[in-house]
Amino acid sequence: MPALVLLGAQWGDEGKGKATDLLGGSVDYVVRYQGGNNAGHTVVVGDQKYALHLLPSGILSPGCTPVIGNGVVVDPSVLFSELNGLNDRGVDTSKLLISGNAHIITPYNVTVDKVTERFLGKRKIGTTGRGIGPTYADKINRVGIRIQDLYDESILTQKVEAALDGKNQLLTKVFNRRAIEVGQVVEELLGYADRLKPYVADTVLVLNQALEQDKVVLFEGGQGTLLDIDHGTYPFVTSSNPTAGGACTGAGVGPTKISRVIGILKAYTTRVGSGPFPTELFDEDGDALRRIGGERGVTTGRDRRCGWFDAVIARYATRVNGLTDFFLTKLDVLTGWEQIPVCVAYEIDGRRVEELPYSQTDFHHAKPVYEYLPGWSEDITKAKSFSDLPKNAQDYVKALEEMSGAPISAIGVGPGRDETIEVNSFL
Ligand code: GDP
Ligand code: IMO
Ligand code: MG
Repeated sequence: MPALVLLGAQWGDEGKGKATDLLGGSVDYVVRYQGGNNAGHTVVVGDQKYALHLLPSGILSPGCTPVIGNGVVVDPSVLFSELNGLNDRGVDTSKLLISGNAHIITPYNVTVDKVTERFLGKRKIGTTGRGIGPTYADKINRVGIRIQDLYDESILTQKVEAALDGKNQLLTKVFNRRAIEVGQVVEELLGYADRLKPYVADTVLVLNQALEQDKVVLFEGGQGTLLDIDHGTYPFVTSSNPTAGGACTGAGVGPTKISRVIGILKAYTTRVGSGPFPTELFDEDGDALRRIGGERGVTTGRDRRCGWFDAVIARYATRVNGLTDFFLTKLDVLTGWEQIPVCVAYEIDGRRVEELPYSQTDFHHAKPVYEYLPGWSEDITKAKSFSDLPKNAQDYVKALEEMSGAPISAIGVGPGRDETIEVNSFL
């Protein structure tokens, strides 16, 4: 049972970092397969808190080899500052492997991300401004720069020229910005080559050989199912595939190798950036979730939009990812509410709808249909087993499991590694 995928079942920030770190001690490889430093994964170990953006959360487990797969987009300056930060805190990062096929977020891609958002005005996506979308756009347009290009100056120069040809026209004539010089970009990129070299590997070969030897490989998603470019709330999405299939393309491992797909699910819902969010709260309940849950972006520091649990979305995540399990996080945040609303269906233009509508217009019109579950007031942060939870908290978890379509195999009752109730073992 060697390969597991762990991914976000909502709009990101479900607690993937914590869940990955929890399993990190028992797996041989942790692999990021998509996204880049738009992600912000928080891991709390004892009294130490780590914020990881690009590095897989497995980097904090000494026995584990962290891998950045071909599907990830890499900003080398962010990578180095993240590595430096961890090294300063005594974390060994020498085992890291990076795919030579991963694409590089160039400085001009960061510029294009920011100016595009500015020009979209009211219609902006609310991106993290890290150059993610433009880098994936270059990849699909076949003018991207890959890590392996840093080791052939002539090819690198030709590729940067090809990428900048069109982009400079756009920057100068449409966006009214200065043109970007090829030589300057090439020089900056070449400056990363030596330090990157020891990490660069044929990660597809490494991972497939590891699986043949029955090693355990965990694929850690960035973002979440509803931010998926194909299956999310397009266009208010990120530019990659956080859903389970993304692990196959983004790491070069066949679907037959994957035995378990774990959806990380918050006991309520949050979202950052623009786009529809049927259970969003604009009242003091929303403020309370934000305050108690510490719902502030790890990457951009923006307040997260908060709302009640949405079972329609959880069911959708089960379906598009083929989820085998859920890891329910932040149950402790709901302590103290007398009643907890849970969205069981939508009302769209007078009709009751049980499943996520594929039509963007319908989804924008979706109003939550709530069921009200009894709350609890006891502190649950010390609970170690399901039976330690108050009856109403147990019933809340069971109700969510029933509505969401896959077993809840772990429950988070606090940010720390040990603040977790394991119901079924993942390994
Ligand atoms: P990720 O992007 O999915 O890794 O999630 P983030 O790290 O962006 O956001 C999740 C936040 O919730 C972090 O601050 C975590 O430390 C915290 N967290 C994770 N699980 C739990 C939990 O069960 N209870 C509480 N109170 N906090 C949690
Ligand atoms: P983790 O891994 C929450 C959102 C942005 C924006 C949209 C597109 O911590 O769950 P992008 O910069 O990717 O082009 O922005 O996606 N977004 C996230 N929201 N958590 C994340 O990552 C996110 N990564 C991107 O806010 O709405
Ligand atoms: Mg996050």
